[in-house]
Amino acid sequence: MTMWINDILEKKQKILALSPMADMTDSAFCQIVRKIGGADIVFREMVSSEALIRDSKKTLGMTDFVEAERPIVQQIFGADPMIMARSAEIVMQHARPEGIDINMGCPVYKITSNFNGCALMREPDRAVQIIREMKRVLGDTPLSVKIRLGWSDPDDFKTFIPVIEDAGVDLITIHGRTKAQGYSGVSDWERIKQAKEIARVPLLANGDVHEPYQVAEILEQTKADGVLIARGALGNPWFFRLALEQGGAEDISREERFEIIKKHAHLHVAQYGERGMMSFRKHLSWYFKTNKLGRDIPGIKDIRARLVRVSSVLELEEVLDKIDVGISKL
Ligand SMILES: Cc1cc2nc3c(=O)[nH]c(=O)nc-3n(C[C@H](O)[C@H](O)[C@H](O)COP(=O)(O)O)c2cc1C
Repeated sequence: MTMWINDILEKKQKILALSPMADMTDSAFCQIVRKIGGADIVFREMVSSEALIRDSKKTLGMTDFVEAERPIVQQIFGADPMIMARSAEIVMQHARPEGIDINMGCPVYKITSNFNGCALMREPDRAVQIIREMKRVLGDTPLSVKIRLGWSDPDDFKTFIPVIEDAGVDLITIHGRTKAQGYSGVSDWERIKQAKEIARVPLLANGDVHEPYQVAEILEQTKADGVLIARGALGNPWFFRLALEQGGAEDISREERFEIIKKHAHLHVAQYGERGMMSFRKHLSWYFKTNKLGRDIPGIKDIRARLVRVSSVLELEEVLDKIDVGISKL
């Protein structure tokens, strides 16, 4: 098992990663990100530890991936140390990802009300037990944790980081908001910088890196060992390549964009079946946002209205082929 963290840091000094997003960073999307290139590692969407140990085929299927997606980290959420450890074992036996990540940042009530996600930042003893039990079964496979600044106090991380490090965590990602903030306000890069000063293990920064050029800015400001990109990559899987090439959206031709969207649709349907086009609509809506691909397409409002109703790959291809190809660059 390669230690992906050291491998990347030794080769490139900084880690550029796709952040885990429920219903979004599935196998099809990760394959697309990999095909375009630029990301060092992809974090797959969170899966429930409870569902894994109940033998849920659907949940186990969410951890399937193809070789081209490697190196990959599978995120798991849960609150019971033994169940978390057993579920990590199940994922390792099933899919052998390069790493396992624990979700300690999710602010959604359904998750936190069961002591999952960000609620663990209020329960450091429980968080420690989870990490210890998971480390025991994972051996050399890196265990990372994704946190927020805190529950309601934006300085919680100052005490939480040393605690989870002592428990044995190998890498930490910090999203610069509290649970109380949800997605309001902005990610506090100044506090992420403070987190980096405290951390003894590699620390990745996250939050509000919406454009590729901001990757250099957040790394410069926080001195973090890398960055996780979430919403910036939705509808823009070119994000990572553009960040490396210091390019902008205008560097990707419309032809290339359409080709990737079609490829993504095919992979999505291969994963979920033809009915999967229903759940592909959310990706289409991101691809054609007016600050993304929708920017320069005449009549984009009507086209979007059609796109969010497509029910087959064929229908999608027809809509795309009809869009005026007069402007080849966006
Ligand atoms: C649709 C969506 C789903 C998300 N799902 C997860 C998840 O499963 N696990 C997790 O740790 N964070 C999840 N997040 C949070 C992101 O990984 C990230 O921390 C947050 O969006 C801030 O980064 P950004 O400003 O680059 O979007 C999700 C965010 C979005 C928008």
